[in-house]
Amino acid sequence: MSWTDVGSAAALGEAAPLSAEVAGVHLVVVRCGGELYAVEDICTHDGESLGEAQVEDCQIICPRHGAHFCLRTGEALTPPAYEPLRTYRAREQDGRILVEGPPE
Ligand code: FES
Repeated sequence: MSWTDVGSAAALGEAAPLSAEVAGVHLVVVRCGGELYAVEDICTHDGESLGEAQVEDCQIICPRHGAHFCLRTGEALTPPAYEPLRTYRAREQDGRILVEGPPE
């Protein structure tokens, strides 16, 4: 698996999304409960960016109509979204944030 460096881990606070791009895919990285999660930056309801989304209890909340998604699984937890967000593996190493990809 290859990994892409998307920024400094020090710049990523708890529950504040960091926008990033890996191989042309826009995504957001979120720190929650000591873990890093990465999901595609497109709400599955109507395409809203999640870069300014709020995060509560490891759920990311779409700023347009309020759908909640599980950061761990991408599952849509509340209407009006029903399709899951695509998720990516993310980790911290030597003070940097790494996200899986691009595909080899
Ligand atoms: S665009 Fe995200 S809930 Fe509607």
